[in-house]
Amino acid sequence: MRRAIMAGNWKMNKDPAEAAELVKALVPAVKDARCDVVVCVPAVDFFTVRAAAEGTNIKLGAQNVHYEASGAYTGELSAGMLKACGVEYVIIGHSERRQYFGETDKTVNLRTLSAVAAGLTPIICVGEMKEERISGYTNALVEYQTLIALNGLTAQQVQNVIIAYEPVWAIGTGLVASDGEANETIGVIREALQRKYGKDISQAVRIQYGGSMNAGNVKGLMAQPEIDGGLVGGASLKPAEFSAVVMYHQP
Ligand code: PGA
Repeated sequence: MRRAIMAGNWKMNKDPAEAAELVKALVPAVKDARCDVVVCVPAVDFFTVRAAAEGTNIKLGAQNVHYEASGAYTGELSAGMLKACGVEYVIIGHSERRQYFGETDKTVNLRTLSAVAAGLTPIICVGEMKEERISGYTNALVEYQTLIALNGLTAQQVQNVIIAYEPVWAIGTGLVASDGEANETIGVIREALQRKYGKDISQAVRIQYGGSMNAGNVKGLMAQPEIDGGLVGGASLKPAEFSAVVMYHQP
């Protein structure tokens, strides 16, 4: 059995004071969670969130990582820097990075390698655009995006990565993939992992769904056998909503 993992993706929201307030509200609300709980926050919030979450079950995540250890890369953060700030998880290849900041499958792979080498757990985002789904390319695309992101990792390392299947048309739109659609595409990703790394590894990798997940649709999604959690954007900014997502097993 894979342990579920719910990760909030705050994107470019919350200054340190707001971050402290949000985590303070989350701590008691998610303390009995049966899944792993992560908040992927802007780097300016690392210290505040780390302090507010210290000794709790809420883990700290970042939203990107550079592939070099140091150097002339203005505006970037290395895996070692994230580690030193207490970061444990890092989102890589989010569709917003791919769409607006020129992120490619190649850079997603490099960032993944550097994250894993530093002992961070990558949350690698894959997913199709609306036109790609309509044209029937979803399966081929997510398979390609997944395998290329993992290129160069050992099977042992692959076991510990997290994949987030996020159909781009479902992100921030209120349009959620149906439970069946999400389950089926995640199944396709798992089959690709099985072909490349074998059954044991493919069964160990946790694959989240992301795209307008909220308190209202989480139960249906989490009832699907292939879905191991969520990468949650908008709903993670509201403590009551995010804690309801995290506590999805409650009646
Ligand atoms: P959303 O974002 O939940 O607001 O759709 C998800 C994500 O982009 O990770």
